Amino acid sequence: MRNVRAKALLLAGVLGLFVLHLCKDFIDNKIFNLEEDVREDKRQIRQLIQKKTYVYSWTECQQNMSAANITGFKTLPQHIQDFLYYRHCRHFPMLLDLPDKCGGADKSAEVFLLLVIKSSPGNYDRREVLRKTWAKERLHNGVWIRRVFISGTKDTGFEKERLNKLLKVEQREYNDIIQWDFHDSFFNLTLKQILFLEWMERNCPNARFLLNGDDDVFAHTNNMVEYLQGLKDNDGSKHLFAGHLIAGQGPVREKKSKYYIPVQVQKSESYPSYCGGGGFLLSGYTAMVIYNMSRSITILPIDDVYMGMCLAKAALSPASHMGFRTFGLRLPSASRVQSVDLYDPCYYRDLLLIHRFLSARMYFMWHKLSDLNLKCGP
Ligand SMILES: *[C@@H]1O[C@H](CO)[C@@H](O)[C@H](O)[C@H]1NC(C)=O
Ligand SMILES: *[C@@H]1O[C@H](CO)[C@@H](O)[C@H](O)[C@H]1NC(C)=O
Ligand SMILES: *[C@@H]1O[C@H](CO)[C@@H](O)[C@H](O)[C@H]1NC(C)=O
Ligand SMILES: *[C@@H]1O[C@H](CO)[C@@H](O)[C@H](O)[C@H]1NC(C)=O
Repeated sequence: MRNVRAKALLLAGVLGLFVLHLCKDFIDNKIFNLEEDVREDKRQIRQLIQKKTYVYSWTECQQNMSAANITGFKTLPQHIQDFLYYRHCRHFPMLLDLPDKCGGADKSAEVFLLLVIKSSPGNYDRREVLRKTWAKERLHNGVWIRRVFISGTKDTGFEKERLNKLLKVEQREYNDIIQWDFHDSFFNLTLKQILFLEWMERNCPNARFLLNGDDDVFAHTNNMVEYLQGLKDNDGSKHLFAGHLIAGQGPVREKKSKYYIPVQVQKSESYPSYCGGGGFLLSGYTAMVIYNMSRSITILPIDDVYMGMCLAKAALSPASHMGFRTFGLRLPSASRVQSVDLYDPCYYRDLLLIHRFLSARMYFMWHKLSDLNLKCGP
């Protein structure tokens, strides 16, 4: 009998501990949820403030059905048909905004170099490396470098939502993404560029200079700041557009090429001079001139050529800068000498931008080049 009572007591004790444990979990969760709620409230307040400064008021852009009447339309590749159906669309709702990136339009002159990096939603790893290397937001030589990634959306349905969520999570941590709700594709890069310029006019019109480029280039941003500071007019109020100059080219009529432009998209056989889209430097003034010109120029899907068209319309020229190597760098006798070291920072020390660099090499090179004791031969 005593034995039974002792067993019951023991059981009650164990049960009690168990219930206590459950309670604790419940309370912990409650506190956690409370913190989440407070954070959520703060976010909503922030969004309310943002909403006050910018209200999207365009109706959804409709497909231009008459595009299908263009001669030979049915014979064009699918992505070109898509392009022609939506060529006229220039406004898309924002999914992620950064109205305070430059401290507001009034204070935006304090941004010396704004890094504007085209990045597709799935390229998380590229963004992560850039944040840690050349695109780090920082004060260099007494002036501010700021960073934005510009993005559209990828895929549809669940997969699209998943990628949007990824960007949202990144935004919460880094505050460096501008995203619009349009399909992020190669032939929509000009659209992305125009949407960025529209954002800039609203939120960062007085940034001194911009580096406009892709997320797979190595940009020596310290060298860029020093180069720009050394210019006679270094407040961004004069024309500057510099990069890897490409002149005397015309549309690629080869159907298999990524750059294929049929006569249905552009009749003329020539392109104006332009700078390779991997990366180029421009002044805030020139960016705003380009935006103004773009309003009256039909979209051409090749974004760097389109920038050249806008410059030409404003009677401005793009300039060649030897520091830009958007076709990569030909290393000395790389084909003959096996021992040439692709990781030797001395090849890159004096350059401004090189295509194409990915994670490990990017991380390694940035650290090598940031080493003040780096010694190179003549
Ligand atoms: C062009 O397309 C529109 C809309 O689909 C149609 O109504 C019209 O008849 C077409 N015009 C010609 C010339 O084929
Ligand atoms: C629709 O496409 C036709 C054929 O290319 C073109 O003439 C017309 O201007 C386009 N409409 C709009 C709104 O862009
Ligand atoms: C560009 O984006 C719009 C909006 O998402 C889409 O309808 C269109 O098909 C896209 N164009 C291309 C060439 O991807
Ligand atoms: C662009 O256009 C706007 C309005 O039309 C004008 O106020 C502004 O001065 C122009 N900017 C440049 C750099 O030409």
